[in-house]
This record gives sequence, C-alpha cells and structure tokens, in this order.
Amino acid sequence: MSQLGKLLGERRVLVCVGPGGVGKTTCSAAMGLRAAMDGKKVLVLTIDPARRLANSLGISAIGNTETRITDASFRSARLSPKGQLWAMTLDMKLVWDDLVRRHAPSEKRRDQILGNRLYRQLSTKLAGSLEYMAMEKLFELAQSRDYDLLVLDTPPTVHALDFLEAPNRLLDVLDNDAARWLLTPALAAGEIGLKFGSLGASYVARTLAKFTGAQLLQELAQFLVAFRGMYEGFKERATLVKALLESEQTGFVLVTSPQTLAVDEAIFFARALREEQIPMQAAIMNRVYPQQTGAPSVATLRAAGVEETLAQTLAQTAQDYALLARADHAAQLRLASVLGPEIPLHSIPRFVRDVHDLRGLWEVNEHLFGDSA
Ligand SMILES: Nc1ncnc2c1ncn2[C@@H]1O[C@H](COP(=O)(O)OP(=O)(O)OP(=O)(O)O)[C@@H](O)[C@H]1O
Ligand SMILES: [Mg+2]
Repeated sequence: MSQLGKLLGERRVLVCVGPGGVGKTTCSAAMGLRAAMDGKKVLVLTIDPARRLANSLGISAIGNTETRITDASFRSARLSPKGQLWAMTLDMKLVWDDLVRRHAPSEKRRDQILGNRLYRQLSTKLAGSLEYMAMEKLFELAQSRDYDLLVLDTPPTVHALDFLEAPNRLLDVLDNDAARWLLTPALAAGEIGLKFGSLGASYVARTLAKFTGAQLLQELAQFLVAFRGMYEGFKERATLVKALLESEQTGFVLVTSPQTLAVDEAIFFARALREEQIPMQAAIMNRVYPQQTGAPSVATLRAAGVEETLAQTLAQTAQDYALLARADHAAQLRLASVLGPEIPLHSIPRFVRDVHDLRGLWEVNEHLFGDSA
C-alpha cells in the first residue's frame, strides 16, 4: 500500500497545503473519495471548490452545511463506496459568527459584536482570517463529529504558512496596542453606549476622526470594547487548534505543480513546516507531463510508410512533448531532493479535461494509490 494509502487509514485529519491553483481542492476531494470507498466516514472541508466540481457533488448551495454525496451520484460514476463521503464548503462569515457566539460573555455582547459594521468587515476581509477560520472549523468538527477522517483543503494563501500563523496574527490585530492607545479614552468609558465626546479626549482620535468619520472611529472603539473578554477564549482555542495540527492524528500533504514558481513555493512550504516541526507525510505533484519511451523517429515513421510531412510533424510533436516531460521530471527531482527519502512524492498527469466529478476524482486516485482501478 502506498504511504498515502496508509495515511488515509491512520490519520483522523489530513490537511492539503500548497500554492494556489495547483489542485489542492481536487486532491483533497480525491483522497476523501478514496477513504470513503474503503469504508470510512469522511468529510472534505473545502474552500472555493471549482463550480463544476461543487455542482456535480451537489455541494454548491449553502456554506457550512455538511452534505452527503448521494448514492445516485456514486452510481452515475459507477462507484459503490463502503463508507460515506460528505463535503462542506466553508463560509468564513458563518464560522466567525459561531466563534463569537461561543466566546461572547453575554448575549448583549454577542449582539453588539455581530451587529457591528467593522466586525462584518473584519470577519470577511481581514488577512489570515480565512485561514484561521478554516482551522477553527476543522477543530470544531474534529471535536464534535464522528467522522473517521476530515480532509481540509486550505485556501490559496499569499504567504505559505498563513494558516499556521493566522491565529496569532488575528489576536495581534484584535489585541493591538496602538489601537488601544489611540482609543484609550473611549475604551476607558468602558460602556458600549459611549458618547463620541469621550473619543474627543484624544487628539489623535479627533484628527483621525476627521478622515475616517466620527462614526467609523466610534464603531472601532465599540468593537474593541466588545471584543475585550474574548481574547482569552480565542487564545485558548488557538492553542488547541495548533495542538491538533501538531498531533499524531493529523497529517500534512503538500500539493504542487511542476511550474517553477509553484515548486519554489512548495519547497519554501516544506522547509517552513519543518521549522515549525509539523511533519509532512506526503507530497503530490499535479498536472505532470509523464515521460514516455518509444516515441517514433522520422525514420521509423517513414519505414512504416507514413507520409513524409506527417512523419515530420509527428516526430516534432513527440520531441516537443519529450521536452515538456523532461522539464517536469526535473521539477520532480528538484522537489524530491528537498523532501528527502522519507516523504514520498506522488505525481498525477495532466488530463485533457479538468476534474469535475466523482469519476474524474477516481481517475486521479488511480495515480495516487495505484490500485484504485
Ligand atoms: N491533473 C489535472 N489535469 C487537468 N486538470 C486538472 C488537474 N488537476 C486539477 N485540474 C483542474 O484545475 C483546476 C484547479 O484545480 P483546483 O481547484 O483543485 O486547484 P486549487 O489548488 O484548489 O486552486 P485554489 O488554490 O485556487 O483553491 C480545476 O478546474 C481542476 O479541475
Ligand atoms: Mg481550492
């Protein structure tokens, strides 16, 4: 059995990480499918799945709802799973709201936060918040549900390790000294119903208010006040999330493509994970042109009676293809040398069509697990 197959059998959580657009969602769904075929109850937690894939799995409609892939879908892909495959698209806003509900010290606080205009901005736009919420949701599901396996498809990140650093960064923003200093007079008032007058005590705040509008600044103050008392809960939670990621239950799978930039990023990723002491268990290079032997030469084609121009064109095409395949092979070697012998590097060929249904995912699995077909 491949190491990836073993991973599916042994871990409770698999996290797919890697550069944007390389096939993380595809690989997450494919691995989830495989585990479900083998008898597990699996949830694939995905972010922004390609519309066609979501549609064909029937998970397009609502965010944050666990949806079971129907028997009918499996039948039309000629598959009969021994287990169950569930999928869920992550809606960041809803995860945030849940978190606030859980940590708010009172109903009043909760409503103040949920109704705050800045909160609404923050919960969808703040850098790193998507990553954090993905981890947060993963943790919640791992705790509260009876899935045998959770596969997390991470969002495309600008910085490779956003999803690990996000909890801290988020706390930094919420617990920011500068913001507190700026708004001290307002915060000192303590009460949410503070008058704008109390903001006026700070010269900086008054000046800022000229640019941002008093209303906005007041809302910021209210937001920070309302969030006080939630930091502890957040921090505790962030620590637990990190612990889950570092535990034996969790495995990391790096996904990348053969493109130079993607390989660079994957290498950076691999090193960063190593530094964080989060072991990566497997890597996948997706959309590879596989090397092929026995491409015919012009001479062979001629000898086989192929017309001259056609023979030339065919031979040229074979040569062009060989060039692409060689470049991809070099990319595999480059990544493999960084990964070392412990971490297997799987490869999936580039398909003619995109992967948009269960059948397509199953074909991906033939390359990941060898024995799928
Ligand atoms: N081996 C492949 N051959 C052909 N098309 C592929 C292959 N793997 C994935 N695709 C297609 O490429 C597109 C991008 O894949 P996918 O959505 O899985 O990438 P991603 O890494 O999740 O992207 P993002 O970082 O934007 O979330 C999809 O349309 C998918 O069907
Ligand atoms: Mg994706």
